[in-house]
Amino acid sequence: MTRVIVHDDPESAAAAAAELLAGRIALRLRSAGVAHVALAGGTTPRRVYERIGPLVPEWDAVHLWLGDERVVPAEHPDANVAMVRASLLRGLAPPPVLHPVQTGLGADGACDAYEAALAALVPRHASGMPQLDIALLGLGEDGHTASLFPNAPALNVTGRACVVVRDAPKPPPVRITLTLPVLGAARERIVLATGREKAMAAARAVGAPTPEVPASLLPRLHTTFVLDAAAAAFVDAGADDA
Ligand code: 6PG
Repeated sequence: MTRVIVHDDPESAAAAAAELLAGRIALRLRSAGVAHVALAGGTTPRRVYERIGPLVPEWDAVHLWLGDERVVPAEHPDANVAMVRASLLRGLAPPPVLHPVQTGLGADGACDAYEAALAALVPRHASGMPQLDIALLGLGEDGHTASLFPNAPALNVTGRACVVVRDAPKPPPVRITLTLPVLGAARERIVLATGREKAMAAARAVGAPTPEVPASLLPRLHTTFVLDAAAAAFVDAGADDA
C-alpha cells in the first residue's frame, strides 16, 4: 500500500518532505555510515533543498545523485544540478559528495559515465541494480516522474540504471533518467507533489499501475507520496492527513 501524507499547503508539504528525507538519511548514516540519495529535479523540490541543510548531521557522508538531468551545460538554468547547487549545497560545509551527470560528454557518453559511477559507488541490490537508499522524486501533470514519461520506451528498459531520453514532451527534450529498475531497487522513495495541476496525476499515481502514468509503476512498498491538499484533491480518503 502506497503511503500518502497530505499537508495543508506547499510550504508545509515541503517541510514535511525535508524532515522525512533528512530522517531517512540520518538513519542510513547511523546504520551504514553512508547514504546514497537521488534528488528530484524540476521546481517543486527546491523548497525541500532550501530547508534540509540543518536537518542532516554530517553531509560529507552523503552521496547525492540526480534522478534525472537535462542534457544542457551544467551551469545552464535548466540543469537540475544547477538548482541543487543553488539551493541544497549553498553554504553547506562540509558539503555532500555530489555526482552530477556529465552532460558535457553528450547524451550517450554522459549516460554511460553515470551508469559506471552508480555501479562503482552504490552498493548492489539483489536484482543487480545499484541500490540507492532514498530517491526523492517529483510528479509531472502527465504522471511522469524523473524523465520517465507516459508510454515511453524508457519504461521498459531493464538491466540499466540510467537511459537517454531524446523526445521528452517536457522541454528540454534530451535527458538522462534513472530507470524503473533502479528506482524500484531503492530502499525508500518519496514523491513530492503540490498544486491542483498535479491532482489528477497524484490520484492516478496511487491507483492501478499503468504505463500511462509512470509514477504508478513505482513499487507500493516503501513509497511515500507527500502532497499538499490541492494535489491530494482526488486521492481517496485513505490518505493520512498530517
Ligand atoms: C525534471 C524533473 C521532473 C519533475 C516533474 C515535476 O527534470 O523535469 O525531474 O520529473 O520532477 O516534471 O516538475 P515541477 O516540480 O517543476 O512541477
